[in-house]
Amino acid sequence: MILALETSCDETAAALVTDDGAVRANVVSSQADLHARYGGVVPEVASRRHLELVVPVVREALREANAELGDVSRVAVTRGPGLIGALLIGLAAAKAVAWARRVPLVPVDHLQGHVASLYLGEDALEPPFVCLLASGGHTLLLDVRERGAATVLGTTLDDAAGEAFDKGARLLGLGYPGGAAIDALARSGDPDAFAFPVARLPGLDFSFSGLKTALLYTVRALPQEELERRRADLAASYQRAIVRALVERARAAAERTRADTVAVVGGVAANSELRGALPGAVLAPLDLCTDNAAMIASAARYAEPVPYPDYLGLDAYA
Ligand code: KG4
Ligand code: ZN
Repeated sequence: MILALETSCDETAAALVTDDGAVRANVVSSQADLHARYGGVVPEVASRRHLELVVPVVREALREANAELGDVSRVAVTRGPGLIGALLIGLAAAKAVAWARRVPLVPVDHLQGHVASLYLGEDALEPPFVCLLASGGHTLLLDVRERGAATVLGTTLDDAAGEAFDKGARLLGLGYPGGAAIDALARSGDPDAFAFPVARLPGLDFSFSGLKTALLYTVRALPQEELERRRADLAASYQRAIVRALVERARAAAERTRADTVAVVGGVAANSELRGALPGAVLAPLDLCTDNAAMIASAARYAEPVPYPDYLGLDAYA
């Protein structure tokens, strides 16, 4: 079994996954409530909380899997990208467990982890496919020809899609994190109420900063009372613009690479409108969209393990 740790942002997560991709435990402790009062993740606060949570979360994963450290053949951990202090807590904990058990350590790239959320369970996906990775930190279109490798076809030139959701939610007074809040509010709104722009860039890149500015100006121009009344319409129209940009580009990428399959992963893949907007696409399971350690364990199966004790000098990357 692989024990994986993920601490790149504000989720402290541990998972146990078998070599053939069966998830035995997947524990995620979100710090969202802790950061909500600041309107976003405070890196130093996140690091300190990871430090408090990492051991209980690993214990909980072992309990859930009915396993012990002796059953672990290697330890996987997110090495980057993410918040450097937060990553270092997970990396130090993973090194400690691996070293104590004299087993190899597998450093995993967080983005490869998101893609590998498609390789778990009964309906594990087989490349080739085009992957839309939309999260709080990244928006990427990837050409995936084999597990463990990918070529970037397009990326965002400014904000990530999840960041656009979070900033939009903030402008609408919905608090942090905002993606799920916009998703929920949009259900009772009219997506055609406001005509928000979808950036028309050449190629397969994205841009969301113009959309965010358009929402800002619209919100500013509305009297407070009307803003209250039309909040759901604003959420629905804003969400529609983000989803439209993602869907258009994903389709274009599939056309360009002649891929038969489009897959969607990352926190924004949890969005209900996006999930409905790409019929036939392979969608990451809901519980594996936002950050978790099961996807890190999954990716570790296709990454190079570092033998005991060479990994003690490994560093994280921001
Ligand atoms: O993958 P993730 O957990 O963390 C990163 O690697 O960034 O993604 C988090 C992002 C946040 O921006 C959050 O607002 C967004 O995913 N998100 C959503 C939904 N659930 C989470 N965005 C839109 N609709 C959702 N239902
Ligand atoms: Zn992520």
